[in-house]
Amino acid sequence: MIDLLKSVTRRGLFLLDPEVAHGLSISALKSGLVPACAARPDPRLRVSLAGLEFPNPLGLAAGYDKNAEVPQALLKLGFGHVEVGTLTPKAQPGNPKPRLFRLVEDEAVINRFGFNNEGHDPAFARLSSIRRGGIIGVNIGANKDSADRIADYVAGIRRFAPVASYFTANISSPNTPGLRDLQARESLAALLSAVIAARDEEARKSGRTVPVFLKIAPDLTEEGMDDIAAEVLAHALDGLIVSNTTLSRDGLRDQAQAGEAGGLSGKPLFARSTAVLARMRKRVGAQLPIIGVGGVSSAETALEKIKAGADLVQLYSGMVYEGPGLAGRIVAGLSGLVQREGAASIRDLRDNRTDHWAAAKL
Ligand code: FNR
Repeated sequence: MIDLLKSVTRRGLFLLDPEVAHGLSISALKSGLVPACAARPDPRLRVSLAGLEFPNPLGLAAGYDKNAEVPQALLKLGFGHVEVGTLTPKAQPGNPKPRLFRLVEDEAVINRFGFNNEGHDPAFARLSSIRRGGIIGVNIGANKDSADRIADYVAGIRRFAPVASYFTANISSPNTPGLRDLQARESLAALLSAVIAARDEEARKSGRTVPVFLKIAPDLTEEGMDDIAAEVLAHALDGLIVSNTTLSRDGLRDQAQAGEAGGLSGKPLFARSTAVLARMRKRVGAQLPIIGVGGVSSAETALEKIKAGADLVQLYSGMVYEGPGLAGRIVAGLSGLVQREGAASIRDLRDNRTDHWAAAKL
């Protein structure tokens, strides 16, 4: 059934414009037409992190469900958590179309959406109306025309604190001009101070402290990584998400589409994002949670991220190529791999290959 679903989905959707196909997949999830395909719960895959209990280490990365329309349907596909957003305070249209491209030969995607989203209010209303249960993170960003970008992140924290399982401050989209400059040391210090202060103030009101993660780019220099690690450790941040899409076009086969501007994701991002993940693990030490993202498309690649230093893993582009059954297949596959490695918990496999990946060329 799932294989049939995969081939039908892929053949049918690939005939369509990528953004139209994405819209249809959201509609299908809304209608309940997509069958649930979660793997059987496996206690060895549970991950406890930042005060949250994840049923398995695999999550859906930000950008798929930007407006929080279908987080629960996505959880039913087998993801242990779903990250909605990026959400900006005000609605904005994003960049002109076309802005999403499939590089089929490379199993990659280029997007230059530019934070198209309906703004905080509709997403907040949707998240407020759903039944609790299931980990739903809220990824927040800044409007393109914002006069005060840090204030936009603070507004996101204040708006979504009652409904978010965790927050991701996304400062690494390449499609909002200047956004990645927030990764520079002084700007980052100001951002983290403001965001953590807002989070703590909301916690005093509600009695619940919502963890905050920072999502970074895979295109950092060694000095850039040093600066981020120093600031992350200096503030009470709960973790890192490594990484967003890359501006690199190294090693692509599909030269026709490779010239499109935007962020590249999918298989060609795997090695670069995993190398940056391992380098950040070595910089921040063993305690800080890290979520590994970039090019995960199988149980093997998900486990490799964990071995490189990730506590949790996320994917997006893999689902474009493998269909909605992918999360269930990866989670079932991870159970088999943990069994084969003789580990009592998947957590025991973390960092087995951090040195290897930290030495890999970027
Ligand atoms: C993304 N990604 C993304 N990330 C983010 O923090 N906010 C966003 O709004 C988006 N939007 C978005 C749209 C599209 C079409 C894609 C393909 C990706 C990045 C995404 O969350 C992830 O970090 C990268 O895509 C790398 O993972 P994969 O796709 O290689 O598994």
